[in-house]
Amino acid sequence: MFSVISSLSLLAIAARPAAAWGNLGHEAVGYVAQEFLAPSALAFVQSSLGSTYNESLGVAATWADSVKYTKGYTWSAPLHFVDAEDSPLSGSCSVSESRDCGDGDCILTAIANYTTRVAQTSLSKTQRQEALKWLDHYLGDIGQPLHVEAYEVGGNDIDATCNGKSTNLHSAWDTGILTKNIDDNYSSSVTTYAAALTAKIKSGAYKSLADGWLACASTTAPASKAKARRFLGPLSTETETDSLVGLVGAATPATPKARASAAITPLACPLVWAKESNAYCCSVVFTYTTDQDLCTGTYYTKAVPVIDLQIAKQGYRLAAWLNVIFDGDTSLP
Ligand SMILES: *[C@@H]1O[C@H](CO)[C@@H](O)[C@H](O)[C@H]1NC(C)=O
Ligand SMILES: *[C@@H]1O[C@H](CO)[C@@H](O)[C@H](O)[C@H]1NC(C)=O
Ligand SMILES: *[C@@H]1O[C@H](CO)[C@@H](O)[C@H](O)[C@H]1NC(C)=O
Ligand SMILES: [Zn+2]
Repeated sequence: MFSVISSLSLLAIAARPAAAWGNLGHEAVGYVAQEFLAPSALAFVQSSLGSTYNESLGVAATWADSVKYTKGYTWSAPLHFVDAEDSPLSGSCSVSESRDCGDGDCILTAIANYTTRVAQTSLSKTQRQEALKWLDHYLGDIGQPLHVEAYEVGGNDIDATCNGKSTNLHSAWDTGILTKNIDDNYSSSVTTYAAALTAKIKSGAYKSLADGWLACASTTAPASKAKARRFLGPLSTETETDSLVGLVGAATPATPKARASAAITPLACPLVWAKESNAYCCSVVFTYTTDQDLCTGTYYTKAVPVIDLQIAKQGYRLAAWLNVIFDGDTSLP
């Protein structure tokens, strides 16, 4: 079943130490998304998350990291990323569904699975709430370039310096650069940061870009048949639920091995987002010079706008995604 290569990459997965966007990045994605929810999506989010999460995607976005290494949830650890086996140092960036998610256990299949499950009325409230929390989180992770990169375990194995402190490349992108930006420019407040990104989408520098971020918004078109089905129109919630279920299949085996053979087809849009995110590995992420501090100077100046953009974009996409599922349309300008 498992080839040598996928067994090796499973070992790499097991060894992968760091989280995701740190808490700040995930919370920011959730807070941005919350501002763009259409009525039915908002109603579902509020009732599903309830007071436990202050009815907020911002608060609920970090749950997935908090359970990742706990009993009963360790299967979820490989779902926070996709190991793109490309060559970012030689300027060749790419993501391939078959090459990089061949065992069916990666962020691409996870998003497909939880897109189906969040809409599935036959599941319990708890199961649908978990599906929502996984989507809230994974739509954030997929925007972090090093979550779509296999090289040196997504940069975890590359030593780096951030603000004079030792860290690694992955962690600098998850946390270090963003934390400094929020400390320096947003009074150390993630809600202030998210509000600034939201304002940029509504009336600032991102306004003219936002429409393009939704060029892909079908929650049903499978990645493999993306071209044929890209223009699948919005569906009513009932029909959509049926077709979502049809795509992934009714069976939801519990063990990783069973999951691997269950062959969930990744959806078209997450693959598009992954490619966009992975491209930054070539253009920005690996362009540091030896001994450069990643959280000061030219590298920092180059990285901050990418991180701001990716967080704003994924927040907006998360809202659109939930709007398509619950309101039948992205419901965004
Ligand atoms: C909960 O949400 C309300 C309304 O969105 C907000 O005003 C309040 O600050 C939030 N509280 C916490 C603890 O996040
Ligand atoms: C962020 O804060 C730093 C330090 O106060 C300042 O030099 C920089 O211009 C600010 N950047 C933005 C985008 O506001
Ligand atoms: C889909 O998600 C459920 C709930 O987390 C999980 O039990 C199931 O194994 C997943 N299915 C696949 C094929 O990954
Ligand atoms: Zn994560």
